[in-house]
Amino acid sequence: MTILITHIKELLQVRDQNIEKVSGSDMNLLPTIKNAYLLLENELISDYGKMEFLPMLEADIVINARGKIVLPAWCDSHTHIVYSGNREGEFVDRINGLSYEEIAKKGGGILNSAKKLQETLKEDLYEQAALRIEEVMSLGTGAVEIKSGYGLTVDAEVKILQVIKKLASNFPIEIKATFLGAHAFPTKFKNNQEKYIDLICDSMIPKIAENNLAEFIDVFCETGYFNTRQTERILKTGKQFGLIPKIHVNQFTSIGGIQIGVKYKALSVDHLEIMKSEDIDALINSETMPVALPSCSYFLSIPYTPARKIIDQGLALALATDYNPGSTPSGNMNFVVATACIKMKMTPEEAINAATINGAYAMNLSKSHGSITKKKKANIIITKKIPSYSYIPYAFGSNLIDQVIINGKII
Ligand code: NIG
Ligand code: FE
Repeated sequence: MTILITHIKELLQVRDQNIEKVSGSDMNLLPTIKNAYLLLENELISDYGKMEFLPMLEADIVINARGKIVLPAWCDSHTHIVYSGNREGEFVDRINGLSYEEIAKKGGGILNSAKKLQETLKEDLYEQAALRIEEVMSLGTGAVEIKSGYGLTVDAEVKILQVIKKLASNFPIEIKATFLGAHAFPTKFKNNQEKYIDLICDSMIPKIAENNLAEFIDVFCETGYFNTRQTERILKTGKQFGLIPKIHVNQFTSIGGIQIGVKYKALSVDHLEIMKSEDIDALINSETMPVALPSCSYFLSIPYTPARKIIDQGLALALATDYNPGSTPSGNMNFVVATACIKMKMTPEEAINAATINGAYAMNLSKSHGSITKKKKANIIITKKIPSYSYIPYAFGSNLIDQVIINGKII
């Protein structure tokens, strides 16, 4: 099947030569073609160019995009989409003055979600997550990473990863799985943390690797959760089983997690709300992608990742949602891009690069996703008629998406 899109007001993120990621001042460059066409053949991008050079060709579907902007679908490299139920009660507790940490201390937070998930049948869990996948696809996301981490037992962690696998085979969106058994200590291990680390390293990791249930391994490296020594042990074991690190660090405190991530060649280090200058320095000359999650900062009223300091040091930055029931009950990448511009002072060009090609890099997908490049996946967003691409973050509360195409299928 071929889809031809004509008269595109502006085609964004056009990379004739594929790039892996963009860093530093290059993030402010967004290559585009005005008055463009784009040809999609089956699952791939096959051609594009200026309208005046449109070759004579027959397509199964022709879309006239006059006045509209076309860009690669969003690449959301950090989510926890497979969870059971919601936590709006804790949301109200926070409105009434409790902090995220205080809620976690009294058995709420991650442990609350884990209890619900353990009691939920796999089929039900799948149905809940499938609705969220449908929602994020309609919001323009074409590739997503999903973490386990609300199971915290061997069986429940495996259950989540099996649900992720089923989602990946049933939906056109590209889905990558991350094992996050080290998300919180279950109550039973509260006074014997090492026993839980043993369970992760001796039972969970081998089982998950053996059954090919995840590509990445994550740890919530944070005061009150997993310390740097425990993080190191888990990453080391994960790597021995072929799992690539992608870790939660510096959300509330700076305790050396970034340095551990770089040491173990993490593909990404995510959150980064609290950054000392040595944390930024540690990332220079590494291949590790820093990832900011601005809708988490928005929802919890915590600091935003210092994007300017990171980018102005010459580093790359990716943007993701963190979609989860506790800190970010939203999978809307359009809101993430807008919030990055409004609150983190990223330019629209930087934010679009961060949410497409750099997001793809943070999931090991930049060969196939994240830009308009021949032979990459036919994953695109067609906006409504808008005046310019800066209007996307500017009109932050409006739904500006007209159509989404994922893997060559109109959603
Ligand atoms: O990325 N910080 C750790 N994990 C999630 C939130 C987990 C929860 O509150 O359920 C996050 O923000
Ligand atoms: Fe997260």
